[in-house]
Amino acid sequence: MSQRDIFLAGEGDAYFRRNAAGYDPARAGEGTLALETVQQYVEASASVLEIGCANGLNLERLRRARGCRGAGIDPSQAAIAAGLRDFPQLDLRVGTADALPFADASFDLVWFGFCLYVTDRPLLPRVVAEADRVLKNRGFLAIVDFDPGPPVARRYSHAQDVASYKTDHAQLFLGFPQYVLAEKRPFSHAGNGFHPDPGERLAIQVLYKDEAGGYVPLEGRP
Ligand SMILES: C[S@@+](CC[C@H](N)C(=O)[O-])C[C@H]1O[C@@H](n2cnc3c(N)ncnc32)[C@H](O)[C@@H]1O
Repeated sequence: MSQRDIFLAGEGDAYFRRNAAGYDPARAGEGTLALETVQQYVEASASVLEIGCANGLNLERLRRARGCRGAGIDPSQAAIAAGLRDFPQLDLRVGTADALPFADASFDLVWFGFCLYVTDRPLLPRVVAEADRVLKNRGFLAIVDFDPGPPVARRYSHAQDVASYKTDHAQLFLGFPQYVLAEKRPFSHAGNGFHPDPGERLAIQVLYKDEAGGYVPLEGRP
């Protein structure tokens, strides 16, 4: 069974229940480093997608801070049901990163909400293509994930047959000339800033998409 199907079949719900206190709607007024970073790139007219949104708490925080429209996708039926109940202004759907139920170029910012590290490796090319497909040109891509330096694979401690892939997933996009790094901020579960243990390092990275970017026109050619 793929990790995607394990999350759809119940691990998504189990994650949400284990971490219910962190997703209490009463915490929608709280700030985080990721929110503080992402909100700099979001205007009131913006539409934002969070992939791996749990109940949409990040999106609700962003909506309150910036007035933007928020959409989210997560394999947990329980998280999405709770989010639809508690945050009715959000467009929340059950699903996974490899098949986004949204139109091409429909978001000004796409945010991977700390879910790439549990994404099946064979699905990564499709996940990259899907995020790029729904992101507008001159939009921003935010990635919250592990940032260990050399890649590390570990067993995910909460479910059998699930691995946790710690690597710099921003490189998947930065290999294309149309993506450039706008900002990177380190943090860890211990707090904001750099952590000396590579296995504990997390980062929020913001990339800018410019389909015409990266190329210097050749002289004398149209
Ligand atoms: C560590 S949690 C982070 C939740 C939230 N973004 C946050 O910042 O608190 C990872 C989330 O990714 C979801 N997830 C797991 N596999 C996924 C996939 N293939 N596509 C989209 N989301 C996935 C999980 O159900 C879980 O809600």
